[in-house]
Amino acid sequence: MLCISVKDLLCWKKKQLSKGGDTQTLAFLLESIGGISNSDLNFHSINPKENLYLKKNLEFLESIWNQHLLNSCPIQYLCGITFWRDLKLEVTTKVLIPRPETELIVDIVFDIFRNKSEKLFFAELGTGSGAISIALGLAYPFSEGVATDIDRDALEIANKNYINSSKQSNLKFYCGNWWSPLERFKGKIDVAISNPPYIPQETYKKLPKEVKNFEPKVALLGGEDGLKHIREIIQKAPFFLKDKGWLILENHFDQGEKVKQLLIKNKFTLIEIVKDFSGIGRFTIGRYK
Ligand SMILES: C[S@@+](CC[C@H](N)C(=O)[O-])C[C@H]1O[C@@H](n2cnc3c(N)ncnc32)[C@H](O)[C@@H]1O
Repeated sequence: MLCISVKDLLCWKKKQLSKGGDTQTLAFLLESIGGISNSDLNFHSINPKENLYLKKNLEFLESIWNQHLLNSCPIQYLCGITFWRDLKLEVTTKVLIPRPETELIVDIVFDIFRNKSEKLFFAELGTGSGAISIALGLAYPFSEGVATDIDRDALEIANKNYINSSKQSNLKFYCGNWWSPLERFKGKIDVAISNPPYIPQETYKKLPKEVKNFEPKVALLGGEDGLKHIREIIQKAPFFLKDKGWLILENHFDQGEKVKQLLIKNKFTLIEIVKDFSGIGRFTIGRYK
């Protein structure tokens, strides 16, 4: 631990921000690598002579900050971690940084299955860092979950995150294309969740460089109209869901109505477009018969 006065740390912060970047990102760096949260710093700022304790020296933190400013690499990748719901997750450029709006997908499951002691059998398709499945496995301790991804490196990270976040063993990871590793679970799934790649080709080309240059293309690109993977997931879902099982999908801001039509075409009922905190129809859900 390295001792530093509040005054010196505030000066250091000011110097870093004068080079560029934003306060929130710098606060993330200070907390995740330095071990000093913004609220700690604010609390102690009334007494600038007081000492705080840093986990890493300021030169090291500054080198990360400079890298972030130089090539726009997301701070979460440079720090190797992110915070999502109440989880602290490892992230590398092999996995998408789980987004705050995706946190709501877990609340949708909570709304449908209100009894947390329920013995749910859930499946997540395209688990990435494992965020959604780990949160569900923890919230429903008697559940069994299976999570798939096409990318073996992503699954390795998801598995590590699971081991670090949970003492349970109610979640298993499988590698393969959407439903295909789950053949043995046909007709057994109570709820399937997916935040698949849904960015249309043309939109992908125009994504900001901090996304396009660092986050995995396989996690973002959804084919020409963005719906390639959503279509496949919906078409095969009836074989895997239990009778009256639920499918919960995240989609792009303007895809809700099209996803709804796909669900209708595939005989889903109780279809609903669920809005995120910005009022965007971010999720589309339905029940199989
Ligand atoms: C948008 S990311 C979502 C990651 C994570 N569930 C989240 O919400 O942060 C989509 C994930 O789907 C995976 N994926 C892409 N194509 C796939 C396929 N054909 N089969 C299975 N997973 C796939 C990607 O590797 C990526 O991890």
